[in-house]
Amino acid sequence: MTTLSNDVATRRTFAIISHPDAGKTTITEQLLLFGGIVRQAGTVKARKSGNFAKSDWMEIEQKRGISVTSSVMQFDYEGKRINILDTPGHEDFSEDTYRTLMAVDSAVMVIDSAKGIEPQTKKLFKICKMRGIPIFTFMNKLDRDGRDPLDLIAELEDVLGIEGYPMNWPIGMGKELKGLYDRYHNRVAMFRPDSEETAYVPLDDDGDIPADNPLHDDSWYEDARDNMELIEDAGNAFDMDKIAKGDQTPVFFGSALANFGVKTFLETYLQFAPQPEEHKTTEGDEVEPTDDNFSGFVFKIQANMDPKHRDRIAFVRICSGRFNHGMDVTLGRTGKTMRLSNVTQFMADTRENVDTAVAGDIIGLYDTGNYQIGDTIYTGKKKLQFEKLPQFTPELFVRVTAKNVMKQKSFHKGINQLVQEGAIQLYTSYTTGDYILGAVGQLQFEVFQFRMQNEYNSDVIMEPMGHKTARWIDPEQLDERMSSSRNLLVKDLAGEPLFLFENDFAERWFKDKYPDVKLTSKL
Ligand code: G4P
Repeated sequence: MTTLSNDVATRRTFAIISHPDAGKTTITEQLLLFGGIVRQAGTVKARKSGNFAKSDWMEIEQKRGISVTSSVMQFDYEGKRINILDTPGHEDFSEDTYRTLMAVDSAVMVIDSAKGIEPQTKKLFKICKMRGIPIFTFMNKLDRDGRDPLDLIAELEDVLGIEGYPMNWPIGMGKELKGLYDRYHNRVAMFRPDSEETAYVPLDDDGDIPADNPLHDDSWYEDARDNMELIEDAGNAFDMDKIAKGDQTPVFFGSALANFGVKTFLETYLQFAPQPEEHKTTEGDEVEPTDDNFSGFVFKIQANMDPKHRDRIAFVRICSGRFNHGMDVTLGRTGKTMRLSNVTQFMADTRENVDTAVAGDIIGLYDTGNYQIGDTIYTGKKKLQFEKLPQFTPELFVRVTAKNVMKQKSFHKGINQLVQEGAIQLYTSYTTGDYILGAVGQLQFEVFQFRMQNEYNSDVIMEPMGHKTARWIDPEQLDERMSSSRNLLVKDLAGEPLFLFENDFAERWFKDKYPDVKLTSKL
């Protein structure tokens, strides 16, 4: 018999954060291979490029290139059930990408070792750091010439403010890649590009490779050994408390493409990654994952981009209890009872076990407009609302108007509902009263436009304003004369004033001119 607490203890729910092209898809694929979910490398990749049509959903994905079904990938490995949540990058980057990080218990940060920390990684890291969740780092593409590993470790601290603790160290790099000095497992993993299996050579009591190993006198090995010693003496000590809080990150070097170091990474990660923990409510209570009552929150709504359908999927992170097919839950915001009968789960390959899920898992509810981002659903008598999801600082802006002036009513209704739902952010210009939409990614505008037309029968005109730096100002300090040609003064939905600066230069200019004025950003 499986009990709830046993089941919850097996869950590991995480997202991979990275900059496009660092290797997220490749590493995900390797993980799914280990989980026996895909049998051949290239499946996820093919799906990404649209050669992998299966269901209607996938057709939709193809049309728009949005991944719906691959938003969550679930597989079992060594007694653990792993949920990987996708954080889309490129043109699919949106507030949903950020919000997904609200639904995970840890994160894996993939860095291209030739490029180091790139902008999107930095943005996503910031959210993980704010949540204080453990972050595990994979320095990828070791089979190519990259930067000095010491530099890469130092950069973690300099740029992200997180201590790096190398779990292994590259022996050579690029064409000279010989292996990994695995300090944690006290062994050397030998790189054999022509073989699928990695060979591991145990180290002796002094931490040295046996004298009969060809690497013993290799200068690359000696280099790695010296560096390890240096780090042992001068580097950070392994600190589980710091890791748990996201103040230290275990760093693994490897190559996703060559499938080198990935398995060790997965196994070590599973050993340290946290199981689901409690979630805070607005009342200040903490809901334990093993609570018998079911609860969860909606962190993402995926609009169906097919004009023939109007349904969407509301993604729910289960925070406590067990989901059973057909169960009734209360939707906190409306107080309505909802029957969870049309629910999808995300076993990548099979449709088994779709009838039940526990805290840590993600379920997708087919939705015809009942759910909003941030909604809490629960069973039991006690009303429950999980803490609000944070607001993010938008970077892209458009001016929006209704194409048909006679249809103002549906225009306003649509905008209000979509803004309430968190699909996009709305601002109003102080001087003209113009509606301005803000987003973190272009996709949000496209989804907005599509849904306005499809769900509210309202054609909109969107006039791009490009990138802006949004900074909130204390209303007490605001003087409308501060607005100039280099910034636009607007207010947000809550009526809070903010400036949209043309660029960083305009912001600096403003700060120089008004040194006492405090400007703030959201996340
Ligand atoms: P992403 O999801 O983070 O955007 O990255 P993705 O896995 O798609 O990888 C981006 C590119 O980097 C791909 O090459 C991929 O093959 C390559 N790559 C990933 N991991 C490694 C690695 O460990 N070593 C090396 N050398 N390359 C790696 P591409 O040419 O853009 O795509 P494709 O032609 O392979 O499809």
